[in-house]
Amino acid sequence: MKILKIGGSVITNKDKYRSVNREAIANIAKVLGEFPEPLILVHGAGSFGHNKSLEFGLDTPGKVRGKEIEISTVINDVLSLNSIISDALAAEGFRGISLPTHAIYGNNGPNLDIVEEMLRNTFSPILYGDIIIQKGNYRIISGDEIILDMSRKFKPDEIIFATDVDGLYSSDPKEYSNAKFFRDVRASELNIKDKGKDATGSMTGKVEKIKLMLPFTRKVMIVNGMFPERLKKALNDEDTIGTVVH
Ligand code: ADP
Ligand code: IPE
Repeated sequence: MKILKIGGSVITNKDKYRSVNREAIANIAKVLGEFPEPLILVHGAGSFGHNKSLEFGLDTPGKVRGKEIEISTVINDVLSLNSIISDALAAEGFRGISLPTHAIYGNNGPNLDIVEEMLRNTFSPILYGDIIIQKGNYRIISGDEIILDMSRKFKPDEIIFATDVDGLYSSDPKEYSNAKFFRDVRASELNIKDKGKDATGSMTGKVEKIKLMLPFTRKVMIVNGMFPERLKKALNDEDTIGTVVH
């Protein structure tokens, strides 16, 4: 079984509140509609989550009391993005079932029985970066953290991250034109420090989570989700441009 994360940087325009990238979503939906096995799909929040979370100061976890309107706004926004994604996937015949993250993560952690039952019935569960409420406290949970929890339980054969750059570089390729691209890299050698412009630590946050999920999977790969053929190859375990993390 594979786990795929579609980054908010691919499906939304991260600089503009609630702006979707319909073309990227449609292209990815085509690839997934043709993929024959159930998988766990997790998508990011992009501009449906980060912008307001930062504006409202929700990137720091805290007590729900006094922040109810802000929290419900963000939870509803990411749910709207999830509907857009699941509609696009359904249009391509993908047998996905959305499991809103805030409804799966209770006081005792995620209810993985529901995820397992969906997989057993050949559905692909769809979760996403969200805000969860546990014992009167809220916190943002990134798609990357959800994948770590899923990996521990389901020991996926492969975990693929689709993002808006070709893979991992020695520094942010959008800021440094001389950044060196890694086709293959050891997590222990990685020391990525980006400016963490979003509410979940951007690429630095992702790499920290990847290091923790490596013991539970055979392969972690980062590919550019703007190129659907690369995603297709990664899903089929064929060689393509991207970074394999060991
Ligand atoms: P996503 O929304 O796809 O989960 P993020 O926006 O959190 O991903 O992270 C992807 C971004 O990280 C890229 O757009 C890139 O500009 C930035 N980045 C920073 N440092 C690096 C690096 N060393 N290698 C690759 N990308 C990096
Ligand atoms: C962030 O989820 C969730 C919220 C801000 C509510 P992610 O961290 O998985 O989102 P992307 O992929 O970076 O957009």
